[in-house]
Amino acid sequence: MKRFVKSDEAVAAIREGGKLLGEILEKIGAAVRVGATALQMDELAQHLIRDCGGRPSFLGYSIGPRYPAYPAALCVSVNDEVVHGIPKASTVFADGDIVGLDIGMEWPFKKGTTGFYTDTAMSVGVGQVSERDQKLMDRTRAALFAGIAAARGGADIRDVSRAIEGSLTPFGYGIVEDLVGHGVGYGVHEDPQVPNYVYRGAPSIPLVPQMVLALEPMVNHGGRAVVTDRDHWTIKTADGSRSAHFEHTIIITTAGAEIVTLRPRET
Ligand code: MF3
Ligand code: CO
Ligand code: CO
Repeated sequence: MKRFVKSDEAVAAIREGGKLLGEILEKIGAAVRVGATALQMDELAQHLIRDCGGRPSFLGYSIGPRYPAYPAALCVSVNDEVVHGIPKASTVFADGDIVGLDIGMEWPFKKGTTGFYTDTAMSVGVGQVSERDQKLMDRTRAALFAGIAAARGGADIRDVSRAIEGSLTPFGYGIVEDLVGHGVGYGVHEDPQVPNYVYRGAPSIPLVPQMVLALEPMVNHGGRAVVTDRDHWTIKTADGSRSAHFEHTIIITTAGAEIVTLRPRET
């Protein structure tokens, strides 16, 4: 039994939607500068997503009846915010900040049909970033790519987890464990989970061609512990240290993994 495998039609739409989403995230990243606000980034995200025939999949997303629906198209997480920061006009980017941008899209969005979901994120520096923070971002991105390099038909989710964790081990960072990568495509979040670390009893889940996964290491200067803000969404580091986050949606193939959300200027 092949679990978590997407149809040919889904894979084709995820490939196209992911390419568009990578282009969109690159444009938003280029708009991050001193004095810009998180709300402006969200307005840009909403505009670019609708312009290419998609729907912002995070907007109105709910993780349960006791939680408020997510109110934006984009997550903007600054400095000690790890993920799921809600964009606000009062969040004004300052020199040296590190800003996580996370975006999701359902595409195509047409009456009478349901589209397919992709998810991608990156951290960017504002103005002049400290060498220490730049290294955190570079190494988190490298961890994502180490995970991608380990992802191919015949490998196991545990190989991906081990590759991500292993690439970060030399640096002594805190790898966030409370949030994980995930299946994606028919919805915002699907099984299987893709932890960014190895643990005793982690289930063996073989990777099979046409599985679609979102890999997304979240990495802190300090400890791995995180706390949820009173807004019920924003996740911050418990110790106040800064955090970085990179994410791509990938399609598993026999030869490796295809990065569908690769940005035009990313290599
Ligand atoms: N983009 C997040 C992820 O990578 C999920 C965001 S859900 C939202 O899994 F509702 F906060 F947008
Ligand atoms: Co995401
Ligand atoms: Co995700």
